[in-house]
Amino acid sequence: MTTLNSSGGASEARILGIGTYRPTRVVPNDELVEAIDSSDEWIQQRSGIKERRFAGPDETVQSMSVAAGRQALERSSIEAAQIDCVVVATISHMMQTPAIATAIAHDLGSDAPAFDISAACAGFCHGLALASDMVRGGSAKHVLVVGVEKLTDITSLTDRGTAFIFADGAGAAVVGPSEDVGIGPVVWGSDGEQYDLIRMNEDWRDVLAQQTPEMPHLVMQGSAVFRWASFAMAKIGQQTLDKTGITVDDLDVFVPHQANMRIIDAMARTMKIPAHVKIARDIAQQGNTSAASVPLALGRMIDDGEARTGDVALLIAFGAGLSYAAQVVKVP
Ligand code: UT7
Repeated sequence: MTTLNSSGGASEARILGIGTYRPTRVVPNDELVEAIDSSDEWIQQRSGIKERRFAGPDETVQSMSVAAGRQALERSSIEAAQIDCVVVATISHMMQTPAIATAIAHDLGSDAPAFDISAACAGFCHGLALASDMVRGGSAKHVLVVGVEKLTDITSLTDRGTAFIFADGAGAAVVGPSEDVGIGPVVWGSDGEQYDLIRMNEDWRDVLAQQTPEMPHLVMQGSAVFRWASFAMAKIGQQTLDKTGITVDDLDVFVPHQANMRIIDAMARTMKIPAHVKIARDIAQQGNTSAASVPLALGRMIDDGEARTGDVALLIAFGAGLSYAAQVVKVP
């Protein structure tokens, strides 16, 4: 009987390094409030956002990803030629095809397979799950996972429910082989019954059928998403700990998707996250950057010394779809 070669694979996978890129322009609440009849006080109270970063014309989905990717490679001591796959999570690459991942790989000096995934704010954690499985399954030794958004291209600054929330940036992680478990089992899923809660306001064909077509933009039923995120996602966090075989007491770091400071607090309360656990609160300075939010938040904690090498971190991301993904990782 003919036997085929196995694809091999490492026994476990881990994050080797994280890189980030934050656009240079800082936009305080005061700059946005007039167009949406709001106030700095309201925005801070309801969302925890003080300021965010908006990308300029030269800060593109591609360039921000390359900057974050390059830093992740440097911090992992990995050359571009060692990357076997590039996975880019984004909803704001403005070309239907080709995927932006191939251009990002090329700019980094890699000709590895490269593709985009669309899982909105949950995209980075989806990418991390795929990367971990690739490394353990043998289809790649090193995978670069990028979460990137230029949401200002698809946000209306006159939409009261979203203008003050969404922002721009990129985060990246290199995933590679490990002897110990560095990325725990993923808990992920979707709730398509709530497909309409966060979406583009119009389909391209409907836009083009109009006499004066306007760029479509994101719309969100904020309070319905808020309720879902605050309660359903705390359960997913607990399921993730159970599947990993740890409890909240074993955590050092908690990095929920940076959607709203009140959601972060509600999840921490519901999950009874102990006081010693450091909680990511990047949203105050960065706003909600969808697929980039988890790596940006973890990156800030590493840079500030709040998260240290070997720390146990629960990542949990959720958003449009509705979709979600969570896993426990060891901080690189
Ligand atoms: O990243 C993907 C996942 N996204 C999320 O998880 C986001 C979840 N949702 C949220 O973060 C919150 O729903 C928002 C921050 C978007 C809104 O906060 P909220 O507490 O849910 O506000 P609301 O929509 O229930 O509105 C409360 C009040 C209303 O006034 P009345 O009816 O109570 O008099 C609104 O008209 O606040 C008013 N309002 C505003 N006031 C000032 C709504 N938007 C604004 C605004 N400025 N921008």
